Amino acid sequence: MKRTLLLTLAFPALLSAAAGDDLGLLPEPKRVVRTAAVGFRPTTATPLVLQLPDDVAAAVRPAARALGFSVSGTDAAAGGAVMLRPSAPADSLRPHGYRLRLDAEGAVIAASDAEGFRYGLTTLRQLMDSDSLPALDIHDYPGLEWRGVMLDVSRHFSSVDFVRRQVDLLARYKINRLHLHLTDGAGWRMEVKRYPRLTQFAAWRPQAKWKDWWNADRHYAEHDAPGAYGGYYTQDELRDLVAYAAERGVTVVPEIEMPGHSEEVLAAYPELSCTHEPYKQADFCPGNEETFRFLENVLTEVMDVFPSPYIHIGGDEAAKASWPSCPLCQQRMKEEGLADVEQLQGYFVRRIGRFLESHGRHLIGWDEILSDSLPRQAAVMVWRDTAYVKRALAQGKRMVLAPAAYFYLDYYQDAPHTQPEAIGGYVPLEKVYSFDAEPMFADCPDKLMGIQGNLWREYIPTDADVERMLYPRVLAVAEQGWTTEPARYRQRTAPRKDYADFRRRALRHVEALRTEGVQAFDLGRETGRRPESQTPVDHMGVGCAVTYNAPFSPYYPAAGAATLTDGRRGDWTYGDGAWQGFISRERLDVTVDLGRVRTVKEVSADFFNAPGAEVLFPVGMEVELSVDGREFTAVGRDDAPADAPATQPVCTLAWRGEGRARYVRVKAPAGPSGGWVFTDEIVIR
Ligand code: ACM
Ligand code: ZN
Repeated sequence: MKRTLLLTLAFPALLSAAAGDDLGLLPEPKRVVRTAAVGFRPTTATPLVLQLPDDVAAAVRPAARALGFSVSGTDAAAGGAVMLRPSAPADSLRPHGYRLRLDAEGAVIAASDAEGFRYGLTTLRQLMDSDSLPALDIHDYPGLEWRGVMLDVSRHFSSVDFVRRQVDLLARYKINRLHLHLTDGAGWRMEVKRYPRLTQFAAWRPQAKWKDWWNADRHYAEHDAPGAYGGYYTQDELRDLVAYAAERGVTVVPEIEMPGHSEEVLAAYPELSCTHEPYKQADFCPGNEETFRFLENVLTEVMDVFPSPYIHIGGDEAAKASWPSCPLCQQRMKEEGLADVEQLQGYFVRRIGRFLESHGRHLIGWDEILSDSLPRQAAVMVWRDTAYVKRALAQGKRMVLAPAAYFYLDYYQDAPHTQPEAIGGYVPLEKVYSFDAEPMFADCPDKLMGIQGNLWREYIPTDADVERMLYPRVLAVAEQGWTTEPARYRQRTAPRKDYADFRRRALRHVEALRTEGVQAFDLGRETGRRPESQTPVDHMGVGCAVTYNAPFSPYYPAAGAATLTDGRRGDWTYGDGAWQGFISRERLDVTVDLGRVRTVKEVSADFFNAPGAEVLFPVGMEVELSVDGREFTAVGRDDAPADAPATQPVCTLAWRGEGRARYVRVKAPAGPSGGWVFTDEIVIR
């Protein structure tokens, strides 16, 4: 075996080629060289020979077993074996890297740490799925240290067995963080021995589906109430899960939400809210010392179960509605010299951060936690947009990037009318894959800890739905995390990634996953982007000035006053910068100036529908024409569909006739349910 390896090493240039493509490896290794036409194809029955120091071998053995290999001892003479041995300087390995050489007689994995062996074996495991293999020499290492997936088990709950199965699947793609969103208004999911009402009561609700619960009175139920929906993980179950994941190289990161998204806690323990009334508040009262006693007690149990160096404390979307009028909150602000409730949240987060640090852990939280004096080691999870990267960098913070526009896996992954109802948005596989963090961190690569895909579950009730939304998009997160290296950005000479190549590999993995029973989205049947968004629309109004008789929202300006006559139409999400949003009383009311009097035969516009985000079709569209801009004649109106399904994203409203006009006025008032109105172009012919 050794001899053959030397031979293959002597002639790598002969067959050197980027062989990653046809091997289907995902994430793609850094360097793959074919060294001969025919290699050996291991199976899980192939003996695994560990020639490693005892401590490394002890860590590698369970990892190998978790991947299905049988570890057979230290006999180097065995033919047709997979040998694991410490790396030599000539292997020039990076931390957690590995070198995998495979020839006709066997395979050798060299690494300098247990993680490196795990990744080498994980790659080998993927190679085993090929029908035949060439001889190979692979050099590889992880780009980012945190390659994560977040699963929301509050909005809808999943069994611990299901979560374990996800750990298996994620580990296959070298994902190494599973962030569990354990608490939120929709239900508390972790046993806390000191506070039994969290799991006797706050973990249960009358309605199984989040949407039904949300649209009802958002109450909780006793655990033994007939028909109560919910559940929680016992501490023993979580400890087992943590150990199971650790054997697969996955750190489970717990999230306990504070100070907002805490309705369920405050229904069970109302004395922790400003008004002490259940069902009134979403936020803890930071003026009350009891709040900190409670949270520190909870976090003590959390740290006891989860060895993760980082503990996620949420921190997002706290309305702080009760804080300005709460005497205890006001007193706290006075004593601490805090100017407003934002600073009061800063105090809250700092205090929890210091508590975690005093126990040897670090705080991580959503980007709302950015305040001036977080503990030095605290980290930020950026979810809103990359503007928060700048703020985090200004404060010297390390961060995990999960910007919603790229990494929210609860958004539609394909044309909404082809999919079960989702929360909205549009994040197809290509979008996840297109994210490029390297330029932002080229000068400070150490500040980028990693990236993460987030699966919020408002509209994801079942385990099958979870798998459909995770896969294959998790594969793009995995390859992103593995291949992103900001330190090498300046040396980039070609695009870092090739989506067409990735998609070919993803298709193979989707097929394999589906064959195994994983409910992955059938990527081969992807409908793809909105056709209208792919080519400009040519019409009489292109480039014409638009007067806004009612303003567009500053939150959704698209291209400002040019938007509605720029010939550009939007994709399957109103947030893509091509759709313009209106929320004033009139909603859409604009006048297009054609520059001179012309014959007008058609005026049409598309409108967006995303009920989960209160973006709704208008009641209809009215068209008026004028030759002088003073006197307008109403020529027609077109009613919008009144009962459009949530998965119908777009309707076209149009007037057709004939008139002479220089000025075309288009109005689209809100329908009976109100909501935002979005349109992308006023098409005039
Ligand atoms: C979030 O999506 N509110 C973190
Ligand atoms: Zn208060």
